[in-house]
Amino acid sequence: MPFSSWVEVDLDILDANLDTLRRTIGPGREILLVVKADAYGHGAVEVARAAAARGVRQFGVATLHEGMQLRAAGLAEDVWVLSPLLSSEIPQALAHGLELALPSLEFARELSAAALAVGRPCRVHVEVDTGMGRTGVDATEAVDFLAAVDALEGLRVGSVYTHFPDADAADPAFSRQQVARFTEVLAALRERGLTPPLVHAANSAGTLRLEESRLGLVRPGLAAYGLVPPEGTDPGLVPAMSFRSRLVQVRRVRAGRPISYGRTFRTERDSVIGVIPVGYGHGYSWLCSNRGVMLVAGRRVPIVGRVTMDLTMLDLTDLALATGRVPAPGDPVVLFGRQNGSSLTVEELARWSETLAYEVLCTIGKRVTRVYLRGGRPWRVVTLVGEMDPAVAPREGGTEEEAGDGVSRR
Ligand SMILES: Cc1ncc(COP(=O)(O)O)c(C=O)c1O
Repeated sequence: MPFSSWVEVDLDILDANLDTLRRTIGPGREILLVVKADAYGHGAVEVARAAAARGVRQFGVATLHEGMQLRAAGLAEDVWVLSPLLSSEIPQALAHGLELALPSLEFARELSAAALAVGRPCRVHVEVDTGMGRTGVDATEAVDFLAAVDALEGLRVGSVYTHFPDADAADPAFSRQQVARFTEVLAALRERGLTPPLVHAANSAGTLRLEESRLGLVRPGLAAYGLVPPEGTDPGLVPAMSFRSRLVQVRRVRAGRPISYGRTFRTERDSVIGVIPVGYGHGYSWLCSNRGVMLVAGRRVPIVGRVTMDLTMLDLTDLALATGRVPAPGDPVVLFGRQNGSSLTVEELARWSETLAYEVLCTIGKRVTRVYLRGGRPWRVVTLVGEMDPAVAPREGGTEEEAGDGVSRR
């Protein structure tokens, strides 16, 4: 196998999660799949292609280049850029048929003029700020803003939406107030003769938790990838991604020896120390130093010493004592995911990293090969140096070396 560390993304699980979300929201509502930040590290192109084949018609990105990447991959579905762009980015956005959020009336006027100049109307989406305090127009100004946008030629209002800052909080009262405020704004719009074709509010937490926020469309990211936001009710979502590596060196180290930079760990006994070729340069947090654990042979083994840019050390002593076998280079390691009936979750890794599951997922870098599974088998393999024949990827029933859960079993 010509790579040592990879994340596996099971596209069948992604399909199943989309189906689960569809069942949750019921008929007559659409899903905009949020694929920004490389689909939360899963790979925007592969995820968008798979979801489009499963009937998703709208995709959300955050930057111009993310939208262009989907177009370059041949995606013909609607692509919304959810974050505001600079006016200097308008020509390329129009050329690629992207739909844009409107941060201001000045931007709307520039977009209108540019759209007219190229003879290509642009669909736009207006965010009403009901409490997120980030982008969009204030709820008090929304009606005048939309009336002004409506009068601009070359623009078509595709939707009006709002966003929740804490639909995953213990108390959903604030989100409920936001929905109420948003509903008032929509009523005021109707009074002015403005009826947007689509209105929406729900991210993953809203989708799973607040029925009244589902409106005409939901915008899940995290839930589609199989993670349930705090306080959400799990309708049966399954994480689509796991992070895997292999031992590249195993050393017997005498008691009293320091391990890694800063010499923050010292062996207290004669030890077996394994090395894996993943570090913070792959997006595995330095904060996991002397704190995180990984799975080897289905058992939790502690990280010892500091996580370095490229390598991380594991204390395999107890594992070797318990199993009577000293692990060897090539043995599979799971950073999160399942192995031999045990599991390590993204949420646990997020806790050791003092961050959110979102950040854990989307910081896994391009150094880490992506292995996409279909039917439980490698289907596409995307590496830093291009695509590889999936036959080279680890798989069940492969060589001796691949045995022992090289690939997750569902
Ligand atoms: C406007 C908007 N909608 C939806 C989402 C998806 O959020 P989540 O991943 O929590 O579902 C995001 C992501 O932060 C967002 O910015």
